Amino acid sequence: MTDATNERPDQQDTDERPELIDPIAELPGHDLTQSRVAIFGHPIHAMSVAFPVALTFCGFGADLLYWFTGEAFWARAALWAIGTGFIFGMFSGFSGTAEILFVPGIRARAPAWTHFIIAVVALALMGANWGHRLSGYESAVLPWGITLSAISVFMVMVTGWHGGKLVFDYNLGTARGSSDSSGS
Ligand code: HEM
Repeated sequence: MTDATNERPDQQDTDERPELIDPIAELPGHDLTQSRVAIFGHPIHAMSVAFPVALTFCGFGADLLYWFTGEAFWARAALWAIGTGFIFGMFSGFSGTAEILFVPGIRARAPAWTHFIIAVVALALMGANWGHRLSGYESAVLPWGITLSAISVFMVMVTGWHGGKLVFDYNLGTARGSSDSSGS
């Protein structure tokens, strides 16, 4: 014999609740997340981002060494590290932008656009840091050059960390995009 009063109220609710549909997951191509800007399947963006990250760190390191030693060599090293970091950063930014524009499953995800905005702020800082030094690389270091370098290091760390989330949490750039990964 079954007794209706023994049924938990929340159990009854669950059974009657309509199935929730994620409107983003309904978009055509939502599960197509594999990189299209790649060499033999290896995404160019993932391969190139290591350079701007490392060079931005090197620039800050050279600024610190200039501050401690006063040797012009370190100010010149910072100029080159920051300049090449910015140029490589723009290159990897273009490859990332191409992924967003051409891969429907990447374009559909909000976190990809969040990453784009964070990365553009980082690139703007890196460019400003380089431009600031072009009219006198030694006098530019203290105080504003080293300040811009410290903020740039923070921003490339945030950008890189967030880019890693896109790949490892949301599977973007891989062939394993899943319909439960549409968060922000
Ligand atoms: C400016 C525009 C940018 C866009 C639109 C963009 C977009 C993306 C996308 C879609 C991914 C997922 C993987 C893929 O599809 O290749 C990704 C990954 C990543 N991004 Fe960006 N990105 C940009 C700039 C940058 C910059 C400037 C950096 C670092 C300085 C960066 C760091 C990363 C990292 C570390 C990953 C993870 C790579 C991996 O572990 O495989 N991104 N980005």
